[in-house]
Amino acid sequence: MTRVLKTSGFLGLAVMMCVGLYQGYLFAIEQAPPFWLVAGHAHLGMLSILAIVTGVAVEALAVTGQLRRVVTGLFLIGQWLLPVTWWVAFGTGNEFLLATFFVWGPCLIVVMLLMAWRAATIEAANRGPSDKVPADD
Ligand code: HEM
Repeated sequence: MTRVLKTSGFLGLAVMMCVGLYQGYLFAIEQAPPFWLVAGHAHLGMLSILAIVTGVAVEALAVTGQLRRVVTGLFLIGQWLLPVTWWVAFGTGNEFLLATFFVWGPCLIVVMLLMAWRAATIEAANRGPSDKVPADD
């Protein structure tokens, strides 16, 4: 499942970089990119990097089973639907869709809290002697 998070992260970066190139094209033809295009680009970029980081952290912190599925599923929802909401809501003139931020945002917040809880409570004893996990102090 962490493969899903990492794949989604790199894919998200590729998508937002294409949007970044389009923004550059708009500048080249002397048009300012709309703020909502840049907002989606910036959010998808940051969240995609975080998807890769979370994928690595899920492994390092030995998040398994149902908890791993919840972390992966909620993160994927937030990573894609939050930036896409910027684009769709403003791009199609349906700004009421911005209210869905109150769904995507909490999905990401729950993942961060679950990972924080895991990072704070994982016992050093759970790690095998061969694990090369650096000290986390
Ligand atoms: C192929 C790669 C990329 C290209 C061509 C690109 C292009 C651009 C362009 C042209 C803008 C200016 C839009 C404007 O000011 O109206 C911009 C803004 C921005 N980009 Fe990218 N970008 C790329 C990758 C990234 C990545 C990897 C991140 C972060 C993870 C990122 C984060 C941002 C942010 C935060 C802004 C807003 C800056 C501001 O408003 O001051 N970009 N990008």
